Amino acid sequence: MLYHDSLDKLGQCLDQINKNLLIISHPEIKKLYGSKLEKFLTHAGCTVSWTLIPAGEKHKNLEILNKLYDACASKKIDKNSCLVAFGGGVVQDMVCYLAATYKRGVPYVQIPTTLLAQADIGIGGCAIDHSAGKSLIGAFYQPKWVYSDIKLVKSLSDEEYANGIAEIINKVGCLDGKIEELEKNLAQIKERNYAVLEDYVMKSVIIKKAIIMQDETGTKGPRLFLDWGHTITYALEKALDYEISHGQALGIGMYGAALLSHQEGYLEKEKVERLKRLIQSAGLPTRLPKEIDIENLIELMKLDQKVVGGNIRFVLLRDFGKPFLSSVDDATLKVVLQELK
Ligand SMILES: NC(=O)c1ccc[n+]([C@@H]2O[C@H](COP(=O)([O-])OP(=O)(O)OC[C@H]3O[C@@H](n4cnc5c(N)ncnc54)[C@H](O)[C@@H]3O)[C@@H](O)[C@H]2O)c1
Ligand SMILES: [Zn+2]
Repeated sequence: MLYHDSLDKLGQCLDQINKNLLIISHPEIKKLYGSKLEKFLTHAGCTVSWTLIPAGEKHKNLEILNKLYDACASKKIDKNSCLVAFGGGVVQDMVCYLAATYKRGVPYVQIPTTLLAQADIGIGGCAIDHSAGKSLIGAFYQPKWVYSDIKLVKSLSDEEYANGIAEIINKVGCLDGKIEELEKNLAQIKERNYAVLEDYVMKSVIIKKAIIMQDETGTKGPRLFLDWGHTITYALEKALDYEISHGQALGIGMYGAALLSHQEGYLEKEKVERLKRLIQSAGLPTRLPKEIDIENLIELMKLDQKVVGGNIRFVLLRDFGKPFLSSVDDATLKVVLQELK
């Protein structure tokens, strides 16, 4: 169930969950919105406790996960409790995996606080990072509900905000083919016009949901389309030791995948350039940092979830709105990555 309203209305859906809540968040987010959230929850008769984890992709790992298992044990979390993920994508992924695995599954709900997490998380599962690579460990485990309050994005820095636009371009522009509409509305999105934003968050979620309904676990194929633009992205995040944010890396990853689509004889050059302009207008980068070692990047891509029999498979575009899965050889990839530098 997806709710889309301001936090003040949260009480409406609380009767659908267990009342013993453990909220997992970051200190900065608790400081900004913690007392407001806690007020609504306790008024609705919930018992609330908090566990805070440090912010940043570097902490989306097994070490922090272990601390969260400790917190669940010490707070006696059971199947009559409910975990609450209150934060951006890092918190959402960590809590989804925690909930999927603690006692082989406890209920959880999601309250995403970044534009990126509102546009892209909530359905479809989660992944956390391993020292060998990004997003290597994960689960398909659905929340009881997702509650998005678009006004929470007002406190995001411009960079964090642009990261969310990257996921909107990814889904609405590239997977659903509404590039022209996005070009027209980008200025309003950048101004954080709440009505326009709500519309695009919903559109992104609906696109993701439609794909997941066809293929929840990626065994049939379509689910992997959601990985469009993410193959270079994940490898790049790991190569830079997560000093680049997911959204920024996705700007580069989408442009790289568009170049690759052209190189393989599909997406027209004019469309590749159009996408590049849209990504750049959103305030996102499109070039690989100079210090990136391309051979190393390709090795990291070989850990990607889409690899079969050692072959790197990419989601390519025939056109905007027309993704497909294709193997790409190292030589072609190298040419494109050189161009991306
Ligand atoms: N499972 C999925 O389907 C899926 C999809 C897309 C992305 N992801 C993952 O999500 C992560 C990126 O998420 P993100 O961009 O939200 O990053 P994030 O969770 O690291 O949050 C970014 C920063 O914003 C701060 N923040 C969060 N909400 C805020 C608010 N309302 N006001 C002010 N500051 C706030 C956080 O404390 C953090 O410092 C990556 O790890 C990515 O792999 C997962
Ligand atoms: Zn993403």
